[in-house]
Amino acid sequence: MQVMPMSAGDLPEVIGLESRAFKNPWGILAFVNELACSSAFNYVLMSNQRRLIAYICFRLILDELHVLKIAVNNEYRGKGIAFQFFNQCLGEIPEVFNFAFLEVRPANIAGIRLYQKLGFREWGRRPGYYLDTGEDAIMMGKIFKGGFYECKDSD
Ligand SMILES: CC(C)(COP(=O)(O)OP(=O)(O)OC[C@H]1O[C@@H](n2cnc3c(N)ncnc32)[C@H](O)[C@@H]1OP(=O)(O)O)[C@@H](O)C(=O)NCCC(=O)NCCS
Repeated sequence: MQVMPMSAGDLPEVIGLESRAFKNPWGILAFVNELACSSAFNYVLMSNQRRLIAYICFRLILDELHVLKIAVNNEYRGKGIAFQFFNQCLGEIPEVFNFAFLEVRPANIAGIRLYQKLGFREWGRRPGYYLDTGEDAIMMGKIFKGGFYECKDSD
């Protein structure tokens, strides 16, 4: 398995996984925009056969790191891949951020547990954030005092 920056050639597989993984998936234009954005950091995890296992999208805005997306192909879930992939990608991003945050659906137990394991905690709620269902978003954050350090199980 290999972590690489996401490129335009990955988009067909990324879009396929995106539409299987999310209720309200991004369209291809959203990913094209991320690839064109200088403050975006997008990575894929490829199998030895060069098939997509997972992808992740971050945006760096001043000292804030926004986690926009993470998805793992169904057949690879539950093996610790998201946890390891997240930490590995974090190490590729310039160490200028002081905190990271994200939004997650309250019903997304796997997502919430993953983020808790990575050291994120609930910071608040965004009422009615998800327009398709009207669900609130749980906003989770993590402080990186003085820059990057690897998320640990015990954080
Ligand atoms: C959320 C997701 C990325 C997790 O990927 P994964 O590779 O299966 O996650 P990991 O195996 O690294 O699991 C890390 C931790 O998350 C939690 N977790 C993962 N899957 C879980 C599940 N189905 N139920 C409960 N907890 C789960 C566990 O705490 C796990 O740690 P543990 O195995 O030591 O207990 C994956 O389920 C996915 O792609 N979901 C669809 C997209 C999505 O919801 N993304 C997140 C919101 S943006």
